[in-house]
Amino acid sequence: MQLNTFPTAEKASKYVAEEIAAYIADKNASNEKTVLGLATGSTPIQVYKELINFHQKGLSFKNVITFNLDEYYPMGASEKESYHTYMHTHLFDHVDISGENIHIPDGMLPGDMVKEYCKKYEQKIKEVGGIDIQLLGIGRTGHIGFNEPGSPIDSKTRLVQLHETTREDAANDFGGLRNVPKMAITMGIETILTAKKIYLLSLGRRKAEITKTCLLGEITSERPASYLQGEDHVEVILDQEAGLLIQRDKIN
Ligand code: F6R
Repeated sequence: MQLNTFPTAEKASKYVAEEIAAYIADKNASNEKTVLGLATGSTPIQVYKELINFHQKGLSFKNVITFNLDEYYPMGASEKESYHTYMHTHLFDHVDISGENIHIPDGMLPGDMVKEYCKKYEQKIKEVGGIDIQLLGIGRTGHIGFNEPGSPIDSKTRLVQLHETTREDAANDFGGLRNVPKMAITMGIETILTAKKIYLLSLGRRKAEITKTCLLGEITSERPASYLQGEDHVEVILDQEAGLLIQRDKIN
């Protein structure tokens, strides 16, 4: 695992966007596809802004295929809180990606179709050759995607229960805790770990404790982001605030 700390969230986000843009440009040059695994939430917003800047300067997303990590369940794609809406607002509506290359878990499937759908989501990722770059944030429970405490290392795309802390963190977006869905469809830990390159982005003081525990503490299903430890293809990108406790630790 590589660790890279930047003085500000802006610089950290810019770095991640530059890495992604350079990868896409490289693949575009030989007319190859880039497969991105994408996250939502507050963390990657600036990364997406920077990617839009790259697009405005000429970077094409025509060869880009995306798979989002997760979607609330139940959740209609056109709801304002959906991750479908988020992705279109923050990235897809501003670049030349084609609709058929966008994959976001469907939060409106009837319960008895979810299992088969999740299997197909995994299959589609494999069919396009796997995820080249996976972007991750980290939740205060130590979740990646919506793999909450207790998620096994070999978990795949599936329907999960959201942790109460995760629901509380989303309460503002939903106008109150009682409106936050209790479940979500998420890629699994194994799905995430099989990406060729992973960027875990952690920003801000409120992520400092969980970031430290996950990166330096015991590797355990109780803190799923700890599974990233010891993985050569994982790069952790922090701003100074998220890295505050890690730096102190190192000094002591
Ligand atoms: C979102 C996702 C989550 C978030 C995490 C952090 O697609 O998979 O794991 O990355 O909850 O959320 P923010 O960035 O809002 O703090």
